Amino acid sequence: MILVIDFGSQTAHLIGRRIQDLGFTATIGTPEEALRQIKALRPDGIVFSGGPASVYAPHAPTIDKNIFSLGIPILGICYGQQLTAYLLGGTVKAGTKKEFGPATIFIHGKSKLFRGIPTRSRVWMSHGDKVEAPPLGFRFIAKTESIRAGAMTNEKKQIYCIQFHPEVEHTQQGTKILKNFLSLCGAKKTTHTVNPKTYIEIINEQIGSSCAIAAVSGGLDSTVAATIVARAIGDRLLPVHIDSGLMRAGTADRVVSYFQKSLHLKPIVIDAKQQFLRALKGITDPEEKRKRIGALYIDLFDNVVKKQKHITFLVQGTIYSDVIESHGSKHADTIKSHHNVGGLPKQMRLTLVEPIRQLYTDQVRALAKKMKIPTDFIMEQPHPGPGYAIRIVGEVSQERLNMVTAADNIIIEEMKRAGWYQKLLHSFAVLTGTKSTAVKGDGRMYGEVVALRTIVSRDRMTADWARLPYPLLQTISSRIVNEVPGVSRVVYDITTKPPATMEWE
Ligand code: XMP
Repeated sequence: MILVIDFGSQTAHLIGRRIQDLGFTATIGTPEEALRQIKALRPDGIVFSGGPASVYAPHAPTIDKNIFSLGIPILGICYGQQLTAYLLGGTVKAGTKKEFGPATIFIHGKSKLFRGIPTRSRVWMSHGDKVEAPPLGFRFIAKTESIRAGAMTNEKKQIYCIQFHPEVEHTQQGTKILKNFLSLCGAKKTTHTVNPKTYIEIINEQIGSSCAIAAVSGGLDSTVAATIVARAIGDRLLPVHIDSGLMRAGTADRVVSYFQKSLHLKPIVIDAKQQFLRALKGITDPEEKRKRIGALYIDLFDNVVKKQKHITFLVQGTIYSDVIESHGSKHADTIKSHHNVGGLPKQMRLTLVEPIRQLYTDQVRALAKKMKIPTDFIMEQPHPGPGYAIRIVGEVSQERLNMVTAADNIIIEEMKRAGWYQKLLHSFAVLTGTKSTAVKGDGRMYGEVVALRTIVSRDRMTADWARLPYPLLQTISSRIVNEVPGVSRVVYDITTKPPATMEWE
């Protein structure tokens, strides 16, 4: 068993997940509780996650120094490396050159951690501070172009530190490095499978003979969550679909048809398109958009709930990445307030049921396949809760909503035709709020600029952009400019995450 101590990293749970994928057990702990947890759990190894703080910040998370003398192998990642250096007497400096995104690592020292790893490979970095001088007994064993402390170890004490993130998929040798760490910890393999039966049983136990209501957006997460509950309690589940007009075309019909045909449940559909537009009128701040959309969802939903006095549970398709991105762990920074987590009223009559809260997208997909959810749900790219509203920079109006939807439809169509759609987590249109000049026919026009954003990512935590073939880019660009009234230009967004988030807002 490996204890992952979370210093507020966006990826602490992902580290645990990778360890599980490699066949071992992982538990996430906190720095404050670490020594007590170690005593109770007797882990074979300890991982210090990254974190957003600087070791010199007033309330920076820290850890009892005794942890370094327990004889348990430690892997410090990013902030984990800086904290180790700081606590053991090394020097940590605020970096003048911050590194976010891809970097090349050069391994120049020998270590069990890097066994079988090429001396040069691509890694993913996300840090400001850096270790300047290692603590006594440690030596630097890898560097990048901008820092000497790519990695440092004290092999005798089995303390291994790396500045980059081995848990993210874009670190080429990340899995191998984690594997090496696990093997030097001597941890034993356990098996983990995603089994629908287990999830259904848990829900059965939780809900008992009560009734539940589920908001079903048409996205995979809420569909899987509601399906698990429907399989557990049958028609004591009431699915509700709120049609905000911000989802992809045809969503409401697809939802109704699935619940009727596959689960024999008739969802309530609330047509709230005009209400959402009114709520967004004049609003340009992205977080305000999210809050208003979230609040209206809750309001509309509450109206249904009030009429269903016998219902005591609320089903939500929250998944783990929603939780962490909305301040799910103690020391993490809030990046965006995803409305399905952050927007819930504090005082809620209903008890929350979140059957897939611990899962990542690819695990949800595996579960969906096992439950025979139609492939068009599984293969559909996820759509954020606030939908097109956060893909329209500036004010959302019916006209701009029509524009982004039309551009998006073209992208979906062309990406599917070219066989690219299913390879990507997202490919979508953004109405950038910038205007530019074009000449269409013989007339000059001053219209909106659409950005095409593509996201290559398995785990939703980090992302690269897709190297689409030029002819495909050309087709998408020509079709959008020619077919969508009011669009003057198409640009391609080539920014990785980090630092850029996937959505523009
Ligand atoms: P970002 O832009 O934060 O996106 O890199 C990461 C993933 O989260 C989705 N996303 C949201 N999903 N409500 C949601 O339900 C939201 O407010 C929201 N904001 C971003 C985004 O589409 C991507 O998959």
